[in-house]
Amino acid sequence: MTSPPKTLFQKILSNHGVAFPPPGEPVSIPIDQTLTQDATGTMAVSEFMALGLNQVRTQLSVSYVDHNTLQTGFANAEDHRFLRTAAARYGMVFSAPGNGICHQVHLERFGAPGRTLLGADSHTCTGGGIGMLAMGAGGLDVALAMAGEPFVVAMPRIVEVRLSGALSPWVSAKDVILEVLRRETVKGGVGSVYEYTGPGVATLSVPERATITNMGAELGATTSLFPSDDRTRAFLAAQGRAEAFAALSPDPDAIYDRLIEINLSELVPLTAQPHMPDRVVPVSELAGRKVDQVMVGSCTNSSYKDLATLARVLKGRTVAPETNLVVSPGSRQVLAMLARGTELTDLITAGARILECACGPCIGAGQAPPHGAVSVRTTNRNFKGRSGTDDAQIFLASPETAAACALTGVFTDPRSLGPAAAIPEVSEFPPVDAGIVLPVGPCGEAEVVTGENIKPLPLGRPIAGELSGRVLLALPDNITTDDILPASSHILQYRSNVPKISEYTFSRIAPDFARRAQEHGGGFVVAGENYGQGSSREHAALAPLYLGIKAVIACSFARIHRANLINFGILPLLLENPRDLDGIGQGDLLVLADARRKVENEESFAIRNATRETLIRVKLDLKPEERLTAAAGGRLNRYRELHGDDPLACPASTAG
Ligand code: F3S
Repeated sequence: MTSPPKTLFQKILSNHGVAFPPPGEPVSIPIDQTLTQDATGTMAVSEFMALGLNQVRTQLSVSYVDHNTLQTGFANAEDHRFLRTAAARYGMVFSAPGNGICHQVHLERFGAPGRTLLGADSHTCTGGGIGMLAMGAGGLDVALAMAGEPFVVAMPRIVEVRLSGALSPWVSAKDVILEVLRRETVKGGVGSVYEYTGPGVATLSVPERATITNMGAELGATTSLFPSDDRTRAFLAAQGRAEAFAALSPDPDAIYDRLIEINLSELVPLTAQPHMPDRVVPVSELAGRKVDQVMVGSCTNSSYKDLATLARVLKGRTVAPETNLVVSPGSRQVLAMLARGTELTDLITAGARILECACGPCIGAGQAPPHGAVSVRTTNRNFKGRSGTDDAQIFLASPETAAACALTGVFTDPRSLGPAAAIPEVSEFPPVDAGIVLPVGPCGEAEVVTGENIKPLPLGRPIAGELSGRVLLALPDNITTDDILPASSHILQYRSNVPKISEYTFSRIAPDFARRAQEHGGGFVVAGENYGQGSSREHAALAPLYLGIKAVIACSFARIHRANLINFGILPLLLENPRDLDGIGQGDLLVLADARRKVENEESFAIRNATRETLIRVKLDLKPEERLTAAAGGRLNRYRELHGDDPLACPASTAG
């Protein structure tokens, strides 16, 4: 019997033994590779360590340092050392600070068509450019994938983006994804995978495809995928990794949920205006407007082709006198390529400021523009304040457009610069692996070095007979995760130090919250509707866990935060009658008797308010596995209940 035609996404699932359910139903995807970066990695690695395993159970796990490399104090450096020693201890590859941005380096040295990749970074989807099923996820999901657990995601709808024609001179891959964003918007891709097909695909190289899949994150998509073809083979061969190639394409008669058609020949240089990546207009509409800063880099546009394009435009000329040009090469390999010919010299003599191979200005780590300045960047996000200056005007554009703006000091359609110089495809990249540290020696023996800023991950306690404590805070509707744990940089530097970061819990609403929680040995938080909306940050559950919060009693919960509470062993209790909220006050003593049995078995029960001698009816609306997770004191404890300690032998290194 012949099997039904499959899309590329469906083929990769099938090749991993996964049957695909209807859209929206959960699908469990085995994970071959993981990546973490330092901003999320310290917590993900701490979570993995808490599982009690001796080594990672993936084919490959890489721990990158690329976000916080400024090292203005000891904290960043100690995080880096922690990650390096943990990688050696648990059998991960370590990519050192200065080696490059995780997605660029992964594409160069580790990406492989048809493999699955889960990363603790939203732009992990970049790997779709080489035909990988690559997805971003939260730190705990990645930690569990490192332990060999599958990643569970809602089965996406699959959108075909059929490309025809070929890009005109001065128009590039960035303009393709900006056009998709213009049509689809930043919410258009939620619950979807974008598969690029059609004759236009063969006209795009792997780095160009990766620019397009990278910004699938801005569509809200689960991921994006290009087929693996002769261009993929050529890229891998040039990287000295020909053996990683596998041909992969959708069946010709595959059925998609939706079709988008783009004729590459019709595209023009585009830019996304402040402060959203989908506010896209042709660059020509802004021609002549002053540009104060140009930044070329980030995981979207920092390949050799991107920076060589900039160098060709600037060769023999200088940057406009009132415009600041900063360049962040995507990897040490890219920098070495630029240094091999004259490109690096051309950039330096033109006046470019060459930064480290890292995320840098993309994450607001340096090069913040002046108030109100216009900054043209090849990055992927232009959210308000991300550059480090709240009222800066950030425009997203291609390296070609950025180069034209740097040269003239005003918005300039690069097509006005005359004939474009072609950048030939590279047939042999230098294998610059000095910053890649492979695990050596038996796993489980190397010492993990924690500094002052690295503290052990707090674990929830399994629920025993009775839960009791004071109401520490009574809150209104729509409390955000930013309200629970604010996100400013002086706080987030403690992300690997939960005891320290917990001091800031609810600090904008109740500055004495942490002190009171510790005095009372924890307690309860009470809130109205939509508790925990906003960012998905795990620390909004981890910090309350550290302070001993046993349950949040609310009228309703935001979806991701509810999951985070369960993951870290805090009960999300729903008030059956929202009016009961008025009968609970700060300082009241609440008692939940026979708690373990109720959490494991009952959907509805009463909590006694011992201060007012009243009963409060609450619901615990959990699926069976969630009940066991909550009763165990969180997902890490539940994992250990199910698996125990199960040390493995150290695998052979897999770096390419
Ligand atoms: Fe880094 Fe910016 Fe990409 S922070 S991972 S370069 S989105």
